[in-house]
Amino acid sequence: MSPLRDPLWYKDAVFYELHVKAFFDSNADGVGDFPGLTAKLDYLQWLGINCIWLLPFYPSPFKDDGYDISDYRNIHSGFGTVQDFRTFLDEAHRRDIRVIVDLIVNHTSDQHAWFQEARLSPLSPKRQYYVWSDTDQRYRKARIIFIDTEKSNWTWDPEAKAYYWHRFFSHQPDLNYDNPEVRQAMLDVMSYWLDLGLDGFRCDAVPYLFEREGTNCENLPETHAYLRELRHRIDDRYQGRILLAEANQWPSDVRAYFADGDEFHMAFHFPLMPRMYMAVRSEDRRPITDIFTHTPAIPDPCQWCLFLRNHDELTLEMCTSEERDYMYYAYAADPLMRRNIGIARRLAPLMENDRRKIELMNSLLFTLPGSPIIYYGDEIGMGDNVHLGDRNGVRTPMQWTSDRNAGFSKADPTQVYLPVITDPVFSYQATNVENQVQPPHSLLNWMRRLITIRKQSPLLGRGTIDFLRPRNEKVLVHLREFQGEAMLLVHNLAGSAQPVELDLRRFRGAVPIEQFGLTRFPQISDHPYQLSLSPYGYYWFRLSQLEDPRAQYGIEDTAI
Ligand code: GLC
Repeated sequence: MSPLRDPLWYKDAVFYELHVKAFFDSNADGVGDFPGLTAKLDYLQWLGINCIWLLPFYPSPFKDDGYDISDYRNIHSGFGTVQDFRTFLDEAHRRDIRVIVDLIVNHTSDQHAWFQEARLSPLSPKRQYYVWSDTDQRYRKARIIFIDTEKSNWTWDPEAKAYYWHRFFSHQPDLNYDNPEVRQAMLDVMSYWLDLGLDGFRCDAVPYLFEREGTNCENLPETHAYLRELRHRIDDRYQGRILLAEANQWPSDVRAYFADGDEFHMAFHFPLMPRMYMAVRSEDRRPITDIFTHTPAIPDPCQWCLFLRNHDELTLEMCTSEERDYMYYAYAADPLMRRNIGIARRLAPLMENDRRKIELMNSLLFTLPGSPIIYYGDEIGMGDNVHLGDRNGVRTPMQWTSDRNAGFSKADPTQVYLPVITDPVFSYQATNVENQVQPPHSLLNWMRRLITIRKQSPLLGRGTIDFLRPRNEKVLVHLREFQGEAMLLVHNLAGSAQPVELDLRRFRGAVPIEQFGLTRFPQISDHPYQLSLSPYGYYWFRLSQLEDPRAQYGIEDTAI
């Protein structure tokens, strides 16, 4: 039986985030499509990922890359038909790859028929689908999220002759969840896609569903109550499917989205993400260990979702102002790299294309507690383009080959939805899948190995975590344990070689086996366990309790 038949499959899964428009263009119109994505499923299967998170593909004016939906029950015509989507889904499932998609509950596009009707008249049956006001002074405690473009969460609609409420772009009016019809409509949308066979949703912007005067309009009890209704629908009719929360909040507030195990199955760990970058830049493990002291335990069936990069800016909302300044100083010296409260760059450029740092960051991603998400292209070390507007710099076409348009499309290059990366370091001629498939030590093959080892180690998805506190604070050491098995993970966050001494007496007699080379390290005794790490080096040790290591390895034991 495939391990993915397990209802807790998401705890062991490696996720892969992509936009259909960016992956592969099958009909040479310059935009990726579902037949193209289907054609590339063999690649994803070869890579070893278990679940695709598909960014929005619904009809949309695409003023927010599809997060502005104009029709919840269809496919944007440029990406193919509903039949193409079904074929893609079947083909993914045939390869044991699951698919989750974005469910955008908080708002629609202003082009959605609901809004068009709503604005016509106060008597329109759809008027109450949105949040209207005669003044722009209500809910003043709610912050503005897109500070680069928006001055207020209210926008005057000359047609409606009223202000409407929006937490994101002004072309994205918020739905009114006080209206039972809206609540029902979104449940129906959810069922529509689940009936097609989808494996769940990444639920967009969930903290903002309800508004209440005097609050910051985030994480309200009413919002949680409705989200539990969505979950109830899943448990009732669609077992084995999942809900993943996008709630960019502090861990104590995100904790509430797991409720008693009856709200979300998963939630992104937003505050951890920038702290991995801080730790490697400051060569200090404390940003990571500190955030875990503030991370509450979650119910057993729940799981954190970890990421290094995604389609948005690297958000610094969950940072103090000092931390934010530090991150800008460290990773976005050029103001062109900044967007809203964050940094619009990809992993490889953030790591100055240093292979050792890219590996280190991925190693953290794959060993800290949660399920990892890879952002398309990061497995080959794709670059970005800070000159493109909004967050487009990290949304350029996937680089498959060194051919025209990086092998992404046969269209005329001027027709491609965004230019491929051509800068000297990250140019598609050098950085592409084809160049990395054969060489055994390419980043791509290393990522593939990382995924394989992760899949062989259920304790990385399910186990407990304990941080060891060796004196050398440049080294992060954590222990993962599950059902009597243990792994010891050691990361050198510094750009220089580092020694570390560990108290491993609890594992006296065990033999650490390094998982990338299956190399056997000296047996653990009562003495401090000494390791040396190369710059940005890391070890994944399985602590195996061999009965009598000498018997198995003979003379090699003394040769170490
Ligand atoms: C989420 C998405 C982001 C989008 C916003 C508004 O934060 O990740 O891309 O712009 O919601 O829908």
